[in-house]
Amino acid sequence: MGPDEMEDPSVSARKLLNGPRAFLYEKYDPPFYILSRYDDVASALLDSETFIEGFGNGPNFQPALGILSDAPHHTFIRKLVQQDFLAKQINDLEPRLQAIVDDLLGRVEDKKVWDIHDDLSFPLPVIIICEILGIPTDDLDRFKRWADASVANMCSEDPLEYARDLDEMRQYLLAQVELKREDEQSEGLLSTIANAKHEGVYLSDDECAALATQIFVAGNETTTSLISNLIWRLLSSEGLWERFCKKEIDTDSAINESLRFDPPLLGLFKTTSKEVRMGDVTIPSRTKVMMHYGAANRDPDVFEDPEVFDVTRNGKKQLSFSIGLHVCLGRELAKLEARVTLNALRDRFPGLRLLGDGARVGPFLFWGRSRLPVSH
Ligand code: HEM
Repeated sequence: MGPDEMEDPSVSARKLLNGPRAFLYEKYDPPFYILSRYDDVASALLDSETFIEGFGNGPNFQPALGILSDAPHHTFIRKLVQQDFLAKQINDLEPRLQAIVDDLLGRVEDKKVWDIHDDLSFPLPVIIICEILGIPTDDLDRFKRWADASVANMCSEDPLEYARDLDEMRQYLLAQVELKREDEQSEGLLSTIANAKHEGVYLSDDECAALATQIFVAGNETTTSLISNLIWRLLSSEGLWERFCKKEIDTDSAINESLRFDPPLLGLFKTTSKEVRMGDVTIPSRTKVMMHYGAANRDPDVFEDPEVFDVTRNGKKQLSFSIGLHVCLGRELAKLEARVTLNALRDRFPGLRLLGDGARVGPFLFWGRSRLPVSH
């Protein structure tokens, strides 16, 4: 978490890959371990009985709620929400995504300078997630504030720091849940959540608010960063944007390589349900362990020349969407959003160029640009 590592997470990835298999990070309260080797991270993610989700996926211990829980609760919740994220449902969103992107690009058409984050990669996922949930998209600034507070809260050592914004978000979502229950014709994922019954009883307010927040947060900052990171790499690597505009680079391959090289989430946490031996290190039971996707994606035992951004790479899967029971539910949606955006940008603004590197998003688990000024 030093300034060099924050500026370029590959610095910590290299250090971790050259260190012990389980690295104890003591400067955080509570201290946690970090797994970095590809095989260690992948095996831990697939062992959901030893590495459990039920204390939250950040470094702090949280109550098990919504989708951040373990079987059998997780099985029930995942089944409830996954219907809206099947490949067919997601593919059907393509025309709508195209319309939103066209509208956003239309608004910057006449601007001399605009910002990839503020004008494009931030609003797109917020609008589409709100539409999937079935809630109004009338106040994007408010959603932005809530989304920022939620991701910052995940990494914060002080649980009270973001309490006001988070409570406001909770009250808003609960009011929406009430509206969904009153309106029998209501549609959207929030209506499914509001009207779901577990053993004959509605989900509690805590469950509904947590689940809606998790879906809202999971799908926003991450997708925003995927889009901004990829545009940043294509524009800042010699000749890549020109090759992309000549259609010499396949959009999906570029998206996959961006996920490997610049994971929007550098890692998430599990908690040990028992003592775990990892090389020379023993991780105690009930301890937070970070699965460092960013380091695993650069493991030289698995990826050839891992420090090279190579859009023609294929082979072993990057871990940025995780694997196992909790594998990202929105991965097809995120990739489709990135594909539609990149293709539209290429067709509309082939002269796009960066005006500096902007700024990094704040919280240490996240890797993306909170500002990325461009001109076209
Ligand atoms: C590039 C964008 C995205 C990235 C990098 C990403 C990454 C991840 C990761 C690493 C996990 C954690 C899995 C674990 O705990 O082992 C996850 C879970 C999840 N993601 Fe995504 N995500 C992205 C976009 C989305 C989108 C668009 C949605 C849509 C709502 C979404 C919904 C979810 C949900 C609901 C979970 C929890 C799944 C579970 O615990 O069963 N994600 N995602």
